[in-house]
Amino acid sequence: MAKLHLITYGCQMNEYDSERVAGLLRAERWELTDDEREADLIIVNTCAIREKAEDKVFSTLGQLRTLKAKKPGLVIGVMGCMAQLRQDEIQRRAPAVDLVFGSPAIARVGELVDRVRRDRRQVMETGEAPLVKITARPPGASRLKAYVTVMEGCEKHCTFCVVPTTRGRERSHPPAAIVAEVEGLVAEGVKEITLLGQTVNAYGRGLTPRTDLADLFERLNDVDGLERIRFTTSNPYNLTPRLIRAFRDVPKVCEWFHLPLQAGANRVLERMNRGYTRERYLELVAELRDAVPDLSLTTDLIVGFPGETAEDFAATLDLVERVAFDGAFVFRYSRRPGTPAATMPDQVPDDVMSRRHAELLALTTRLAAERAERLRGRTVEVLVDGTSRKNARELTGRTRTHRVVNFDGQQRTRVGDLVEVTVTDVLPHSLRGTLVPRGQEALCLSR
Ligand code: SAH
Ligand code: F3S
Repeated sequence: MAKLHLITYGCQMNEYDSERVAGLLRAERWELTDDEREADLIIVNTCAIREKAEDKVFSTLGQLRTLKAKKPGLVIGVMGCMAQLRQDEIQRRAPAVDLVFGSPAIARVGELVDRVRRDRRQVMETGEAPLVKITARPPGASRLKAYVTVMEGCEKHCTFCVVPTTRGRERSHPPAAIVAEVEGLVAEGVKEITLLGQTVNAYGRGLTPRTDLADLFERLNDVDGLERIRFTTSNPYNLTPRLIRAFRDVPKVCEWFHLPLQAGANRVLERMNRGYTRERYLELVAELRDAVPDLSLTTDLIVGFPGETAEDFAATLDLVERVAFDGAFVFRYSRRPGTPAATMPDQVPDDVMSRRHAELLALTTRLAAERAERLRGRTVEVLVDGTSRKNARELTGRTRTHRVVNFDGQQRTRVGDLVEVTVTDVLPHSLRGTLVPRGQEALCLSR
């Protein structure tokens, strides 16, 4: 069998797509390898969300060019968001690349690779195509957790973001296809799934009969053997009371909500075209915490959006402090060609951006630590997923709220078990605890 090596950058959706590609190519007799030197085909799945992500890809492509010089038969492919956005630049800066294809062409990857090998010329495939649910997967070690894409694309047009260009129109997969995919995963041992979409809480728009994410939760909750349901990323604009009720009531849906805020000043939110105000965001947080008091709430924040003044930034600090997130990704604004924000006046200088980034990061880190502190002494449900990285005698797993917990439990429990652990230590990036002996589990768990 010929050998395929995959290099994946970016978000969970890219990880999911890479797995589909490996599964589809497996059917065409391509076998996965971890070693790029023995590969006959290398596909780089790319991310274009920030400039840094693109830089990494170009540097990887530079290294692959050296490899190809030694092995002329090697085929190099580029897929993902940069394939869609940067095909010209890839051709110019990375002439060793033989194949460029966007996500709509994934279903035809086998045919595209054949075409390159047969015709010995560059193939570019970046047009739109009908939505298909691909469920191919490479054979591999059994696993507990899997991603499931439920919708593709985004039409929100936040002014800083390339996703509407790279991922195309918003389209949802029919519920039956998603349920079938999840059933297949569960039959292979998966216990936890994460539903993926750029605006996952808008799931179902445009489908007939009408459906939504709340419906999908219900349907997936009925899949026997599935233990946990997560979903990401939600957009505040589409967060309805109906979804909040389902989030509270559907048992397998975990108490973790990722709700990107981006900025705390209304002026900035408006220029970002986010579709909500700081007041609305606070209202939503109150509704969520009212429904699920122990929920873990995480977010994405951008500092240095064009025109962000010291006062605007202070409004972000203030809002973040009020909400007290359990965790946050803090990004420096990255100017993305072709987006409306790229040509806005008053781009924020680098040094100001760095100062704001450090300040906001320090705040979110402090707040996250304070929130985690509440878990000391509590008993939490943990899905055991392996041995601890630092101490092979310890096991590790995640809480329903997605926190890492390391605990002493070898011999008494196995990977894949749902166990109860009492939290003894709260560390910056994880919790430590002791296993609650079987038979003594509390009836009512904390999260
Ligand atoms: N669909 C998600 C966002 C996907 S991109 C949503 O609804 O928010 C993931 C995160 O990357 C975004 O939330 C944003 O914080 C960040 N991001 C996107 N474009 C960016 C840019 N140009 N510069 C800096 N951060 C950006
Ligand atoms: Fe991007 Fe906004 Fe969509 S951040 S992915 S355009 S919701």
